[in-house]
Amino acid sequence: MSLPQHIVILTGAGVSAESGIDTFRSGANGGPSLWEQHRVEDVATPEAFVRDPDLVLRFYDMRRAAIQEKLPNAAHRALARLERAWPAKVPGGSVTLVTQNVDDLHRRAGSDNLIPMHGQHLSAWCTACDSRHAWTGPLIDRPPCPTCGTAALRPDIVWFGEVPYRMDDIHDAMARADLFVSIGTSGAVYPAAGFVRLAREIGAETLELNLDRSQGSAWFHDTRLGPATQIVPDWVDELLKTP
Ligand code: APR
Repeated sequence: MSLPQHIVILTGAGVSAESGIDTFRSGANGGPSLWEQHRVEDVATPEAFVRDPDLVLRFYDMRRAAIQEKLPNAAHRALARLERAWPAKVPGGSVTLVTQNVDDLHRRAGSDNLIPMHGQHLSAWCTACDSRHAWTGPLIDRPPCPTCGTAALRPDIVWFGEVPYRMDDIHDAMARADLFVSIGTSGAVYPAAGFVRLAREIGAETLELNLDRSQGSAWFHDTRLGPATQIVPDWVDELLKTP
């Protein structure tokens, strides 16, 4: 295969599992899965926020505090390395990293061309004036929005039933892609789960890197199974060494 010029990578919770952040559906790291303590409908829907805002804000305050103690792992770092190296390796080349994760670890590992399609824990969104703010502290005490002063900040997270962010940018990147790589996602949640089919339609090569086969595994040309901290750096090294 000739080297791809434009690479689009989709990541999910599996890429952060070895940083100590539980995945949603498998209870990785021997612990309970995130949703086991809370039903999804109780914390991650707009309806839940209307019904019991304190429960939802407390849940996300806890998550926001927890992720700040976690560190990027070798998989996050390898993807940042690939993004930096690719334009030098392939003239005009690009790596676009689309993540479903809200944990900030790709950014902290150094990925710049990053699309956090499900939002970010370290951001708060004012529903009164539609401004967004870098946020590390709690929201439970209803702090005023730094822009308009209204106490209307919510987690800047895409909840079930809401439209993921930057879908136009994702479709633009997908339309150019020669290679689509899915890493550490179960393929259970759309629209991300449908990206592999989109990639196939436009003729891109497709590769899955995951601990277990995802639900859409049959759509990929190739699948490599293993922990992300091993198989992602191995794949990046291999790609960068390919003449
Ligand atoms: N290395 C690689 N993959 C791993 C590892 C690991 N160490 N540990 C777990 N995995 C894989 C699992 O095999 C599984 O396929 O990561 C995947 C995690 O799947 P989910 O928990 O379903 O997470 P994800 O696909 O990111 O969920 C998508 O669902 O709840 C929503 O908005 C939330 O963004 C999330 C979306």
